[in-house]
Formats: sequence, structure tokens, C-alpha cells
Amino acid sequence: MNILLVGSGGREHALSWQLAQSPSCAKLYAAPGNPGIEAHAECVAIAADDLDGLIAFVKAHGVDFVVVGPEAPLVAGLADRLGEIGVPAFGPAAAAARLEGSKGFTKDLCARASIPTAAYVRCTSAEEARAVLEGFAIPVVIKADGLAAGKGVIIAETHEDAEAAIDDMFDGAFGSAGAEVVIEEFMTGEEASFFALSDGQHVIAFGSAQDHKRVGDGDVGPNTGGMGAYSPAPVLTADLEAAVMDRIIRPTVATLAAEGTPYVGVLFAGLMLTAEGPKLIEYNCRFGDPECQVLMMRYAGDLAALLHAASTGALTDVAAPAFASDYALTVVMAANGYPATPEKGGIIRGIADAETGGVRIFHAGTARSGDHIIAAGGRVLNVTALGRTVAEAQARAYAAVDRIDFPSGFCRRDIGWREVAREAE
Ligand code: AMP
Ligand code: GLY
Repeated sequence: MNILLVGSGGREHALSWQLAQSPSCAKLYAAPGNPGIEAHAECVAIAADDLDGLIAFVKAHGVDFVVVGPEAPLVAGLADRLGEIGVPAFGPAAAAARLEGSKGFTKDLCARASIPTAAYVRCTSAEEARAVLEGFAIPVVIKADGLAAGKGVIIAETHEDAEAAIDDMFDGAFGSAGAEVVIEEFMTGEEASFFALSDGQHVIAFGSAQDHKRVGDGDVGPNTGGMGAYSPAPVLTADLEAAVMDRIIRPTVATLAAEGTPYVGVLFAGLMLTAEGPKLIEYNCRFGDPECQVLMMRYAGDLAALLHAASTGALTDVAAPAFASDYALTVVMAANGYPATPEKGGIIRGIADAETGGVRIFHAGTARSGDHIIAAGGRVLNVTALGRTVAEAQARAYAAVDRIDFPSGFCRRDIGWREVAREAE
């Protein structure tokens, strides 16, 4: 089949690498793609949020199947538009993409389906939110309801900070995303990410990962989209995974199906492993970035066929997904200044030389400038390696990082530290 992949980051480079190897993929296009994706797909200059442009391309080029990387086109209704022209999409319709597009929607769904999550109240004005705040212990979590590029969550350590966050959100700090605010109980525990594929009715587990959200070594400094990740996450034991499927994932899929808004695509559950068991922090309606890179590194099978089965109600017809038993670990190389104001245009050399011994270097925010690859975003490269232990994967990834010449870039030197420490015990 002819496949169009939508997106341009490291997540999409990893997906394109697997899709291009899939026996069931005849021709792969990417919109808009990036210089790394060019090795696996024909890149076409259509932005991921240009729904009209994407639909016109699908019609004109006989595209049979569309895999959507980022959330914005899904929340805007790309899967619905493709459905109208009879083309299956990997990714939910807008009604089900509200799982990521509206935190309040997800919390209400958890309440209806008795899914374990933090206690919460939805608020539509600053006055209401300030009053509601009185009922919560400190620290407390204040969230903008809508999509805020990962920035709409404030963990307030004092009552004053919580009030300030409420005022900022209702004053438009996150645009329309903050027109409604969710106030949540603060949960403690270790975080892990869990992935499941759903065809609307059936759901299968698709692996686990842990990422590092803070910019600095030791998990300090501002939040980012993720500075590195590894998979699987050993803290998510087989028993815990089974509990997550039973108490969180299956009730979500069943409730959405029963309510006439079935969920198709990947469900990315952010989990808090609390003393009372796993609880849902949030859902994303897409693969994580960079979590996808480590999942794809380990995946062994025909990815195009699997994602197509999920998109056509046929998940029960496919074998359970197979993954290498090795760990995969990815280190994000970012441009100096990230996450605030990343420096653009820095030249990167040595990518090909570093890609030896099974290491894969996924392009996240790069561009071509003459013969050079240059930085064109905050997160620039994802240096990804396999190993029998997290420590081995980490050593291989950093050996490759050290071969890359990117003077205007930086990375964390401790990706995987928690697991490396546990392995050493
Ligand atoms: P999100 O943007 O929803 O992924 O939230 C960003 C981060 O905020 C999460 O990865 C958690 O570390 C933290 N967080 C969100 N909600 C809570 C909560 N209710 N309790 C504790 N931490 C939370
Ligand atoms: N790495 C976190 C995310 O993709 O949302």
C-alpha cells in the first residue's frame, strides 16, 4: 500500500524508518518530513496542520493509508476528513482526540469509568478556581484545559503560586487553552509511560518507556518535550502492566466505544506509580517524542500492517507485537538555549560516522543548508542505541554522541540514570 506519514520530528523519522522496512509498504510519502526522513520516504512540502493540502495530496497520489505523528492535526479533525474520503488513518477522530485536546474531558471520562486518577475540579473562571483551591492540599496542580505544547501544567508549591497560576491562565498566558482550568490533587510516585494500540473496540499493549522531562542533569531546570528516554521501563512490571490494561486502558476504550466516539490509534498513557497502584496522569493521542524512537528501535515486525490493522478494525487478526528483548535508550541533542530560545543554524558534522554498530540517529529539528545539516529546532537529534542492559545502551548512545560535532548543541549526560543505578544494586 501507499502510505503518507504526517509530521517532521524525531518521532516521525523513527516511524518512517520502520514503515519503509515494512513488507506491506509499497511507497512512503512524508509531509513535510525532514532531512533524516528523506532517506526513507519521498518528502512533500505540506505542513502537518494543512488539512486541505494533505487531503488534496492523498486524493491526487492514490494514498491508501495515512499515519499521523503529531496531535494537532488529529485534534483538528484530520482522521475525520480522511474517513469522509474512505482512507483509513492511524490516529483518532477529533471526538476521541479530546483525550489529549481537553484535560477536563479526560478527567470526566475517568470519573464515569472509575479509572484511577488524581482528584480534580474543572473551573471556568478565576473566581471559581480560587474558591475551589481552598479544598486542595499544597502542592497542588493547575492545568490549562487545552493543548499548550506541554507547558500548560503548573505544580504550585505554595497557595500564592497556585493563585498566580490561576490568574495567569485566565489572563490568557496559554491562549484559548486556558479558558478552562483543571485543579488537581498532587500525586507522588515514579512516572512511567505506557502505550496501547486500539482499533476502536480491541486494544493491545505496545510497550513502555520512561523519559526525562527536565533540561538538566539530575532532572533539574525547566520542563522540555523530553531530553531522552529508554524502553522498556522495568518499573512497569508485568503485573503492573496488566493492572494498567484492566483498570485504565480497557475501560477508556470501552467507554469511548459505548459513547459512539471509538478510539483508533495509539493511546499514550502517562502514569504515576503511586503507593495505591498506577494512576493516570494524562493521555496523549499519539506516540511520545522521544518515546517513539526507543519503541521503534525495539519493534520487530511489519509496522505498516500493524498500524493499518488498528486503523481498520482488524487488530484481532494480527499477532501480538514483537519487540527485541534488548533495552533501547535515546539521548536528545538540543540546540543551545532550548527550551527557551534555541539557537538556529548551527552546523552539525559527523552524523554518518556516529551511526555505526547498530546506533540510529534520528533527525528531530534539522534542515539542509548547502552541503551541511544544520539545527532548525529545539530538539535536534535523537541518538539511539540498543543494549542488553540500560547501562550498555547508555554507553553506546553516549559513545555515538561524542562522535557528533555540534558545537552549538548540548545534551544531558545522565539519560537512564535511575535504571542504571538500579542495575548496579
Ligand atoms: P503533562 O503536561 O500533563 O504531562 O504534565 C507534565 C508533568 O506534570 C507530568 O509529567 C507530571 O510530572 C506532572 N503532573 C501532572 N499532573 C500531576 C499530578 N496530578 N500530580 C503530580 N504530578 C503531576
Ligand atoms: N515526551 C513526551 C511527549 O511526547 O509528550
